[in-house]
Order: sequence, then C-alpha cells, then structure tokens
Amino acid sequence: MPDRDSILKTINAALKSRKLYPPGHPAIITPAKKTVELLLDAFKEKPTLTFGIVNEALIFESNPVSDADKLYPELLGYMSVKGVDTVIFERGMGDKEFTGLIDVLTSNVTLKASDLQKDMHQRGITHITLKSIPMGKKSILEVYNGAVDTVKNVMNDVRLGKIPASEPVNHVIDELSESVLTDQNAIIGLTMIKNYDNYLFNHSVNVSIIAISLAKAMNLESDELHAVGIGALLHDIGKTGVAENIIRKPGGLSSEEWEKIKEHPLLGSNIIKRMEGLHEIVGKLIYEHHIRYDHSGYPQSTIKLHPLTQIITISDAYDALTTLRVYQQPHTPVEAVKVMQNFSGRHFNPDILNVFVSMIGAFPVGTLVRLSTNEVGVVTAVNKDAQDRPTLKAVYGPDGTALPDPVEVDLVKTTGKSIISTVNPATLDFDIAAFFEHEAALQAEL
Ligand SMILES: [Fe+2]
Ligand SMILES: [Fe+2]
Repeated sequence: MPDRDSILKTINAALKSRKLYPPGHPAIITPAKKTVELLLDAFKEKPTLTFGIVNEALIFESNPVSDADKLYPELLGYMSVKGVDTVIFERGMGDKEFTGLIDVLTSNVTLKASDLQKDMHQRGITHITLKSIPMGKKSILEVYNGAVDTVKNVMNDVRLGKIPASEPVNHVIDELSESVLTDQNAIIGLTMIKNYDNYLFNHSVNVSIIAISLAKAMNLESDELHAVGIGALLHDIGKTGVAENIIRKPGGLSSEEWEKIKEHPLLGSNIIKRMEGLHEIVGKLIYEHHIRYDHSGYPQSTIKLHPLTQIITISDAYDALTTLRVYQQPHTPVEAVKVMQNFSGRHFNPDILNVFVSMIGAFPVGTLVRLSTNEVGVVTAVNKDAQDRPTLKAVYGPDGTALPDPVEVDLVKTTGKSIISTVNPATLDFDIAAFFEHEAALQAEL
C-alpha cells in the first residue's frame, strides 16, 4: 500500500511553501523530493496513483481520507480554486514534473479547466494528469478538437524520444465513445474534417470515431470497444518513425521509400509496448492494420489475425478513401463504400464489412444529395429502417441558390421528396467539413 498520509502531507507542504517562497527554494524542493521518492515507491506496485474529490470528500486510491480539510488545507484549496477534481500520477514521473505541477496549481493565471492540461503539457509534464470538474458538458466539437490535440501531443512526444503517457489517450477514448453513444451522427459528421496539413492527426481521430461506431454496431463489450478505439487512434503512430519528406512526398515513392512506409505498423507496435496502462491487444491491432483479410498487404505474415483488427482496417480505408491526398481526389462517402465492397472477401472481412455498410448507410452522413425538388442537401442522420430516406439539411433551394440557413428535411416524415442522385461537393464548391463544424458550433451554443 502506498504511504498515503506521507504523500498527502508532503504535497500539502510543497504547496504551502510555494505560496511563501520563490520557485527552487529549499522549503519547496525538500517536500517535493520527498513526495517523488514516496511515489516512486508506490509505482513499484502499480503504474498509477490517483486521488481526487468526490462529493466534497478526498478519496485516495478509492479510499476516503478523514479530516482531509484540516490536515491538507492547501491541497484541497488549490484543487478547488483550479477546478481540479482528480490528480493522477503515472510511473515515469520525474522531479521536474512534480515541481511543475506545484507551479501550475499555485499560479495566479486563471485558466479555463480544459486549458490546465494543455499548460501542463507545454511545461513538459506528461506523467501527471489533472481532470477538471466539468464546466457543463463538453460540446462535441470540443471533444473532437481535444482528441486531435491529444494525438498531436502523443506523436510529438514520440518524435522527441519520450514515452507518451497513456492516461490522456484513455481519457480521449472515453470521451469519443460517450459522443458515439449519445450523438453518433454529429460526431461522424465531424470525421468529414480532413486537415490537409495535419493529415495524420485528423485521420487518427476520424479512424477512431468510425472504429468505435463500428464496434458499437457489432455490440462489442465496452472493454473491447475501448481497445479498438485506442488501436484506431494510434494505428499510424509508427509514421513518426518514418521521415517526414517520405510521408508528405507528392508523387510516386521509390521502392526504398515504400519499404520505409511499410515499417510503420511494426514501429507503431513497438512504441505501444513501451507505453504502460493501455489495453494489452492494442499493439497487435496496430501491427496488423495493413495485413488484409486475405493476408496480402504488409507486413508479410501468415499469423492468425486478431478478430478486431479488421474494424480498424475497414475504418482506416473509409477515411483514407474520402480524403484528398496528393495522389487521389477524395471519393464521396457513397463511392468509398462501393470501392470497399469490391474488395469484400479479399481486403476486408465480409461479415464486418456488411455491418459497416449497414451502419454507415446507403447515403452516409456527410453525403451531398439532390432531391426530386432540385434542392441539394447534406445528409446529417441515417434512418436505420429506411436507408434511402435519411435526414438532411437543405443547403441549396429548388432554384439552385444557396440558403442562408440550412433547412432540416427528414425524408421519413416528408412526402413528395426523394433523393435522385448524389452530388460531388467539388462541383458546387461546397465545403462539407466547414458545414459540420458550423453545425456543431451552433449545437454547442444551445
Ligand atoms: Fe497505416
Ligand atoms: Fe491510416
């Protein structure tokens, strides 16, 4: 058992001294060093140590601490001022990270709760996580953007030779899963955001959202759904080990360059091995994500594929096909599904692909369609029982003029209107990603 009372006492002492003395003063350094020693001891038994405030009581590793307000007033005071409800220390934490935490908690700058973790990361604190008292529910756009930031941080850590902390990744997957459960259409709409310059970050988040949705459609246990979400979020993490000029090269790759790219699944699974606290199958899923159902693809292998790998392979293919690349115009969602169906039984497991196709719908969210009235709209929700009659937002009227405010049309509830064709957004110069971002922002204001 970790020495709870000593840990809380020394943290409290460091905070109290930081109020009175400048950084680096022995009155701060001594208790800080002691805390880190005690934590290192605790990490021998388990990889993380957590305490937090639940219903105004201090809970240390699931056990309530009595008289905490009298014994550790500085600790409770700063946590409440900063809106922090949970502190998680992770194995690998060093002295500097701990004194950094003391600086963050005692700083005069009032940061919004969600910015605290960013500030920590900028200071190089990657093995301590602060969770914040929710200031109202996070909007779906905040969840999406937060996930992109997390992937960016993780990949930057790898590039700098650091082992990324697992806690923020697990947290992001919790948030994305929650969004898929509560508002799947809106979050799938946001996967239409394909940032050309930051391709890898958005692609990782998009694949994770699609994979979690597919895992949900397959009725997987939450534990497996979580593992799939992480595997998808980090599936291309090995690309951090491939030179940037190869990744971004316009035009064809030489065979040596192509061999380099093919290393990314192995590099990725090696990075995952060094991260603690991730689901044990994540490394295998990442290693296998380019091995196809018929075992073509790479790395060349005859191993038995993990049954969940195909969820990531299918989600990866869908996002890649619908994205503008140096060598490829984006396919519309409907075209992408058709392309994928042509490879059923070869690249893709037919059973899982069937679940994917029925989940994503005949007119997937993000498809631009023309109605029999000549209006043009964006599909915003799939109607499960009537795949050819989704809900959409009309963005161009019958005479072809852009509507200032999109009008919702639920085709299930509307007679006299039907879809006559899909429309390539490029022909109308319509920005699907901006549309969904705008919709999500409006939703957040409500
Ligand atoms: Fe990949
Ligand atoms: Fe990928």
